[in-house]
Order: sequence, then structure tokens, then C-alpha cells
Amino acid sequence: MNEQTFLDRVALQQDDWPNIQALAVTALSHHPLSYYVLLHFGEGMSGKAHQWLAALAGRITPILPKEVARQRKHDPVRNVALTREGLLALGLTGTEMETFPFPFQDGMTSDHRRRILGDDGPAAPESWHWGGPKNKTAHVLLMLFARTPADLDSVINSERASWTQAGLSVAYELPRPHRDSTREHFGFLDGVGQPVPRGTPNSGKQKARTGHETQVNAGEFVLGYINEDRVPPASPSVAAERDPQRILPPRRRLENGSYVEDAEVRDFGANGTYLVLRQIEQDVASFWKTLDAAARGDAARREWLGAKIVGRWPSGAPATLHPEAVADPSPNADDPSNDFSYRPADVAGTGCPFGAHIRRSNPRDTLNEDPAVALRSARRHRLLRRGRSYGPPVTDRLQDDGKERGLHFACLNADLERQFEFVQQTWINNPNFFSLSGEADPLIAGGPAMSIPGCPVRERIAGLQHFVTVRGGAYFLLPSLPALRFLASLGAAASVPEPEVVKPAGDLEPIAVAMPIPPQPAPAAAVIETRAPEGETPAPKPASRPKPQAPAPKPQAPAVKPQAPAAKPSSQPKPAPPAAKSASSPPPKPAPVPPPSPSKAKPAAPKVPGRSSPEPAAPKKTPPAKPSAPPSKNKKPKK
Ligand code: HEM
Repeated sequence: MNEQTFLDRVALQQDDWPNIQALAVTALSHHPLSYYVLLHFGEGMSGKAHQWLAALAGRITPILPKEVARQRKHDPVRNVALTREGLLALGLTGTEMETFPFPFQDGMTSDHRRRILGDDGPAAPESWHWGGPKNKTAHVLLMLFARTPADLDSVINSERASWTQAGLSVAYELPRPHRDSTREHFGFLDGVGQPVPRGTPNSGKQKARTGHETQVNAGEFVLGYINEDRVPPASPSVAAERDPQRILPPRRRLENGSYVEDAEVRDFGANGTYLVLRQIEQDVASFWKTLDAAARGDAARREWLGAKIVGRWPSGAPATLHPEAVADPSPNADDPSNDFSYRPADVAGTGCPFGAHIRRSNPRDTLNEDPAVALRSARRHRLLRRGRSYGPPVTDRLQDDGKERGLHFACLNADLERQFEFVQQTWINNPNFFSLSGEADPLIAGGPAMSIPGCPVRERIAGLQHFVTVRGGAYFLLPSLPALRFLASLGAAASVPEPEVVKPAGDLEPIAVAMPIPPQPAPAAAVIETRAPEGETPAPKPASRPKPQAPAPKPQAPAVKPQAPAAKPSSQPKPAPPAAKSASSPPPKPAPVPPPSPSKAKPAAPKVPGRSSPEPAAPKKTPPAKPSAPPSKNKKPKK
């Protein structure tokens, strides 16, 4: 790797596509049917499980070039993720596990994490269907996608035969999505606001669909790439002697202004990412009946209240661009526009209220006086959502039919604390978000109240309750294909297969889709000089990362991780105020500002009012004056 390619690592590199699972860049909308199963390795792991994994790795669908994906569009898609327990069962050591970030080490249901996520009461992990302390341990999440029911059944049957033969059992079979649905059960178009990792093969698709595309540095979603902090995210690693076949790439890190390859450490996380999966039950009748009561039975007003709660009309039309009674008559009239910002057109929240679900989960240019700074901050907390609805469709949304339905909420992110947990805790669950008081997300955090700014007076709906309940969840690693093969190699009897060459349907040339990284000479700390991008504040002096062989004892994670990259460690004890009032902490001005009143607002003027503010440019190819080491998640940051 040379300087050029290091700096190019803000965008996914085509060379890496065969190593990255497809879900990292596509929601697989052409494969509307899916099946998620949690598997458990049998007692006393045998080589069979490793052999199963080695074979499965050869069947996993990676990122495919556009034309190949088109040729293979009828093929089922298989992706796989592993829990902490799964990785340990396959042979990662406790020491290696300590190179993972705290949320992954802790697990979603630890005392600390459940406080952060607000999983209590009926949503406490003790009552979960899976992933909780009373449930059978889930090691593997196998995700199968197909275009037709027959294709789905066929791939499920063949995979079931394969895992059963290897001695794995089902820990939990997630309820299947019953329909090809882009609308979640409350009735709103879902999956509109999505970031696009730079270097995604189908880049441009989002723009065509929604009129806007926010490209985000690939390191926000894939380990081994440069993130929005201009450093690679922390990545788990193993000692080189554990990988004699050199399946994994060497670990690369920034040190003292240079980019260094560690001869003795292999990067287990490279080209992988973290997957958050939460089964969230939705009480549709309760949601619409509550709004109906607040609207005194006026159907149009009920719809209006729903749009204010979500921030979009059921069609996907944004409330910011359509503050009042947008024509939303037919399910075919979808208007999933994403080409808007909140300043200056909606600075007072009269279109999309401050507390609406989409304004909380992505405040765009809201949380700083300078819209560009606010946008840059929001980009550090983006989630790549991959959710799918499960359970039967709703026939009458005002009638409780007693059937369980909901959303398999799934999202990908490279930094569980800074992305998923931050969004859930600091924005969604926060009763004091922005200028609000005593109002959590009305859609998914139980309100219990919501202010709707208006002229001449604002309205406040009270008596909102929990319309959703978490029924299961876990943090997973969505490993790279080499990482899967490395794990398979840890089984005594398993052998790592030769590169598999798949001939796509049609006349295209074969492409290698399962390509072990060829043996590489062990370089003695190859050093590549880097420099600061113009205009960038140099990062603090690098913190060195503990070697996997001699890790520090596992400290506790802070509730809200400091946002500065490469912060130095400290021995601060574990704090845990859930939903503490705090907003994004962007460089260089992290603090949110209270909403200016419309008359006092001094918004920067975008070209078209109400349309997207210009975003900060992609990082230049000239690196920082004092590049820093990637922030180590398992060290305490200094205050
Ligand atoms: C049952 C639970 C949920 C439902 C029904 C739901 C529904 C929706 C809907 C209707 C939208 C607007 C359409 C769109 O932009 O895709 C949306 C957007 C979004 N949701 Fe949720 N959501 C749920 C849970 C969550 C959770 C748990 C999170 C994160 C912790 C989340 C984060 C987001 C984000 C980031 C957006 C996009 C906002 C934007 O970019 O403007 N959602 N959700």
C-alpha cells in the first residue's frame, strides 16, 4: 500500500469488493424475501463447525460489480454475521476479544448497554424472544435473501441441511417478513434517508430515487477505511502467528505521522463491519387510535399528526417540504424526496418538528449555528439501515388483531458507540433533545409528549405511550470473507478452500468472489509518510494501541464516547447516565445551539431555500500534518 492508496481509502476499493459482504452496500431490494436464523454451535465444538463455516464462506455473496449483480439477480443471497460468543466458540481467544470495541465485548444486554439503549420495563432483555439472558445463546446470524418464495425455500432447505449436518442447532428463527414491503407497519414508506458509503458500486441510485445522495467516507461503515474523522476506525486484530496462512491482511495504523504496517499483527476486522439487529414489535392499533383520539376522529388531522411524529408523510414526502396536508392519496404516489435540509426553510420546526423521528435520528444541519458544521457533525452519526418488516400486513390500522408484527431493525456501522448507540441514546431517547423538555422520540421511545411548533402557537400532544417494544437484539460482526476463512482455519480439521471462481450467469468473464489474500511477505514495519490536509487541525498525538498479546484489563466504556479521534486513554470509571442531554460533538464546534426563533435566525443561504445545504467537500488527498493513530476503543480516553 502506498500513500496514494491510503488516501484513496475514503472510498471502497474495487479490489476489496470480493472480500466485503453485499449487505454493506446494498439493502437487496431486488431480493424482497428474506429469512434470518440464529444458530448455535453444539456442545464441544468439533472441526465440523469450522468446515461448515469454510464452505459457507464460499457461498457468501460479496459486493458485486453492477453488471455482475445484474446477471446474478436471480441467485439467492447469503450473508452471515457472528456474535461475540460465536467468535469465541470458533476459537478467538479472550485476549483477541479485547481488541474489539466495548459495546461488542459487553453485548447489547449488559447492564451498561441496556441503560444506554433504554431497554427496560416490557422491553427488558429478560423478556426477549432471543438475545436475552434467558435465551439460548446465539452464535451465528445467517441471512438468506431471495426473489421468489420457491427460491427462498430452496436456499433455506439447502442451508438447513448443511448446518444440521455440521451439528449446529437453531437458537431462534426470526419471524419472516410476510410481504414485499417498503412501508413499515405504521404505514410509512421506509428506507428513504440513507447515507451512501463512498465507492459503492451502485452510487447514483440513491440520487435517482430521492433527488439527493449524502456520500459518507467508507470508514463510517467498513473497517479498514478512512472515516469522517479522517482516521481508520479501530479494528480487531490477532497475532500474526495465529494466521500462518496469512489469510488476513497486516494491521495498518497511523503512528507518529506515518502509516505503519505491523508485521506481527493481522487485521481481523478489515473489510468487516458491525451489524445491529433488533426485533421491534409495533402496536399499530395503539399508535393510530392514540392519534385518532388526539384528532377527535378527524381522519385528515390524524394523518397530519402521524406526519409530524415521523417527519414524513406516509408516502415518504418530507414534512419540511410539505408542512400541511400534502396530497398523499394513493400508495403509488410515493414521494421519497430526500433533497432537503432544515435550515433555513424549517428552522423553527413548523414543517418537521424538532422531536420528529427523522429529525432526531438525522438532524442534518440543525445542531449548530453553522449548517456546514452541523452537517459534518451529523455525518459522524449516520446509520446504514437494513431493516425489514415482519409479521402479517395490517388490514385495519384502528383495530387490534392481536397478531405480532414489527420491524427487524438492522443497521450497519463501523463504530457502535459513536453511531448506533449515540443515535439511540443521545437523540432518540433523550427527553431534552435540542430545545425540548420531557419529550423522547414519539414514534419509538414513548414520548410521552410531543411539541409541534406552529403559528401563532405551538401544539403539544400529551399522553403518548410506547408504540413499539424491543423483543430481541444483539450486536454482530459482519466479517470480511477472509475473516470468515481465518475463523474456519482455527478448527483443527478444517481446511481453507482454494479461491472460488464463480462464473456469473451470461457471457461475462468469471470473477473471483472468494479470494483468500495471497501470502504476503512480513514487512518490518513499512512506513508511509502522510501529511495533513490543508486547513485541517492536526489531530492529537497518537495513542498507541495495546498489542493483542498483552491487552490492558478490560475497562468500562463511557456512556457517550468522546468524539475526538485518537483521544488519549484515561482510567475514568464507567459512567452511565442514559439519555443524557447531549448532542453531536463535531469538530470543531460540538455544542448544539438552541433553535433560533424564525425572526432572529441568520441561516446561511443555500442556493435553493429548503434544499440541501452544501456539504463539506470530500477529504483532499493530502493527509494531515500530524496524523494520529486510530482511536482505540478499548482504552479510556483522557478528558
Ligand atoms: C419500529 C421501529 C421503527 C420504525 C417504525 C421506524 C420508522 C421510520 C420511518 C417511517 C422513517 C422515515 C423514512 C426513511 O427515511 O426511511 C425512518 C427514518 C429513520 N429512522 Fe427509523 N424507525 C424505527 C426505528 C429506528 C431506530 C431504532 C433507529 C436508530 C436507532 C432509527 C433510525 C432512523 C434513521 C437514521 C432514519 C433516517 C432519517 C433521515 O435520514 O432523515 N429508526 N424510520
